[in-house]
Amino acid sequence: MSVTVIVGMQWGDEGKGKVVDFLVKDADAVLRYQGGSNAGHTVVLKGKKYIFHLLPSGMLYPGKLCIIGDGVVVDLPLLVEEYDTLKREAVEVGDLRISELAHLVMPYHKILDELEERRRGEQKIGTTRRGIGPAYADKVSRVGIRVGDLLRPDLFEEKLKFVLDRKNEIITKIYGERPLDILEVRNLYLSYTDFIKDKICNTVYLVRSLIEEGKEVLLEGAQGTLLDITYGTYPYVTSSHPISGGACVGAGISPRDVNDVIGVLKAYNTRVGMGPFPTEMEEPLGSLIRERGGEFGATTGRPRRCGWLDAVMIKYSAKLNGVNKIALTKLDVLTGLEKIKVCVAYKVDGKITEEFTPFLEGVRPIYEEIDGWNEDITSARSLSDLPPEARRYVKLIEELVGCKIFFIGVGAGREEVILL
Ligand code: GDP
Ligand code: IMO
Ligand code: MG
Repeated sequence: MSVTVIVGMQWGDEGKGKVVDFLVKDADAVLRYQGGSNAGHTVVLKGKKYIFHLLPSGMLYPGKLCIIGDGVVVDLPLLVEEYDTLKREAVEVGDLRISELAHLVMPYHKILDELEERRRGEQKIGTTRRGIGPAYADKVSRVGIRVGDLLRPDLFEEKLKFVLDRKNEIITKIYGERPLDILEVRNLYLSYTDFIKDKICNTVYLVRSLIEEGKEVLLEGAQGTLLDITYGTYPYVTSSHPISGGACVGAGISPRDVNDVIGVLKAYNTRVGMGPFPTEMEEPLGSLIRERGGEFGATTGRPRRCGWLDAVMIKYSAKLNGVNKIALTKLDVLTGLEKIKVCVAYKVDGKITEEFTPFLEGVRPIYEEIDGWNEDITSARSLSDLPPEARRYVKLIEELVGCKIFFIGVGAGREEVILL
């Protein structure tokens, strides 16, 4: 029996999709536990790129149980489109299940995400505009609508009417925009009941039975630790709990069920959207890494801000999540740099500290510098295939974080990995 949480250790886009796709072949099921279509998880198979927003990253394994968990917010029209597109592109796909407890992202959530961001002006978060914040806010305010409500059309309509009246007031009176038509929204959403009918389930019992049967279950996190609503760099965060603790409330399991926590760590640092970033690279280096690493948002296409690895931050991440194994990704992207910097401490108010603070404004990074390498490492399949400088970098990360690396990504493809 084994339950493994896969969590992003930085600001998202660490390569969780690739790591999950790799681990799924030996697992029985994979469940997404939080977030929504703000996620963009990439899997490259035989040179073809698949980007998963709502579907778990195990969907490329025929028949593998892929579950959208209780903690996810589901943009149903987008999910149906993603599923249909994948079915057209891949010969066979995973066996999809959707939690009846997952909340729906409704059209007004996306409109309000957009309008609120615009209104914030200079203070904007830089959200993906996928309606995530407004959907989670409604869940907490107890005016959310759940996937399970769709199977009770009268109840669904009643709930929709109640909430849409209020949302339309905000849309028209505060923002001066056009209201949404209740019948249009109702009809659109109820048209998806056929799609969800054979996929919807009580995932608490489903996951429980998998665990009791001794099956291997992966819990796939979206976003990353520093985007956590409580522990991240608030307010420049997402509206859910990407951390491993979020896996329990997003999958309906007990902390006692979790055996392993795999932290996915990119060999450097990136961030999309606004907010402080102490180790952000200067130009032209930032652009060079962005181009080499293909650091453009998988969901929005926005250029990602690039920076050096921040060991202070990832040590915090490792502790917060209870990471016991690290999957290091994109080591190949650092090839060709004369020197590689790692932030080993912060200078805060004139004092040097190794303790992370999510109040990052004004924090100055203190770097350790090591030699880079020039050899192409994309065909390396064992540690000994790596140049000594790359091995030194891997060892340095293990020492700084105090945790073993078991997987090193040296390219985007499924096979481009070193296993330790
Ligand atoms: P996720 O959101 O954490 O799943 O990460 P994304 O898919 O948004 O971004 C990671 C990007 O890096 C994708 O384009 C992946 O195909 C790519 N990638 C993942 N691992 C590696 C790696 O080891 N090397 C290289 N060069 N690319 C990788
Ligand atoms: P994956 O799962 C990187 C960022 C947005 C913004 C902030 C809030 O692919 O790693 P939201 O739309 O969630 O309200 O936006 O969070 N963000 C991500 N950044 N990877 C992601 O997902 C992200 N999901 C949200 O850019 O700064
Ligand atoms: Mg991503």
